Amino acid sequence: MINSFKKEIIEPVGLLDSGVGGLSVLAQLYKLMPYKNYIFFGDTKNLPYGTKTPEEIYQFTKEILDFFITKNVKNVVIACNTTSAVAYDKLKNNFEGRLNIYPLIQHAAKYALENLKNNDTIAILATKATVNSKKYTHEIQKLNPSINVVEIDCSGFVEIVENRLYNKKESLELIKSKLDIAEKAGAKEIILGCTHYPYLVDIFKKFYDVKYFNPAICISHIVKNEIKTPDYKDSKIDFYVSANPLEFKLSAKTFFDIKDEVKTIDFSKIYCA
Ligand code: DGL
Repeated sequence: MINSFKKEIIEPVGLLDSGVGGLSVLAQLYKLMPYKNYIFFGDTKNLPYGTKTPEEIYQFTKEILDFFITKNVKNVVIACNTTSAVAYDKLKNNFEGRLNIYPLIQHAAKYALENLKNNDTIAILATKATVNSKKYTHEIQKLNPSINVVEIDCSGFVEIVENRLYNKKESLELIKSKLDIAEKAGAKEIILGCTHYPYLVDIFKKFYDVKYFNPAICISHIVKNEIKTPDYKDSKIDFYVSANPLEFKLSAKTFFDIKDEVKTIDFSKIYCA
C-alpha cells in the first residue's frame, strides 16, 4: 500500500550574530511574524566580531550559513551590522541561488534618513570593524551627500551586554564618553549600528536624549514583505551557540526568556574530529 502521508518539511528563517545582539533583531521579526520557524545562531566562541578582520568574519559566518543549509534554511537575516558591513558581499556571491540573505545596513540607511533635513548630522554607534568599513557613511551619502555622518567606534559595548555589566561605573563612563562625541557633533539622530546596542538604549538616552534608530525594525518589515516561507501552527525557535550556552541564556533575557535547551555547535571541533 502506498503511504500517502506527506511529511511537512520545516523551513526555518535563519538569523546569525556573534552573540545575544542578534536577538534584538529576532524579537522584531517575531513580533511581525510569530508563525514562522526560526533558527538562531550566536557565534559566542568568536565574539566580539568587531575586533576581527573581514576575512575572519567571512570565515565564521560562512560556516554558519553552511550549517543553516543543512537545516533547510532558505532565507537568512544577518542580525549583525559588522557582518553586513564587511562580509555581506562575499557571502552573497558565495551563496547565490542557495540562500536569500538580508543584510542590515544596506536597508537601514534609507529609512534612517526619513526625518532628517539637508546638512543635518547623524551619528552611528558601531563596532570598530563597522566604523572602519565606512559602510554607513557610504550608504547614507549615496542617498543624500549633504548629511554629515559621524561614525563612533564603541569598542567595549558588546562586552558590557554579553557580560551584563550594565551598572558598572566603568561601563557607564565608557558609554557617556561615546555619547558625548555624538552630542558635541550636534547629532539629530543616532543609529544603533550594532545589534547589541538596543540592550543599552535606555542608558544611552540618559546621557543624550535624541531619536535612536534601530535598523532591526525596518529590516523586519522588509523581510516580512519579501519572504514566502510558510506559517506553522506550532512554530518554534531553535537556539544554537558555538560556546557558553548558559551565559547566552542569562544575557539573552532582555529580549528572550529561553526555556528550551540552547544547543552548542563548535564548527572547529566538528571539522577537526
Ligand atoms: N552584534 C554585532 C553587530 O551588530 C556584532 C558585535 C560584535 O560581536 O562585535 O555588529
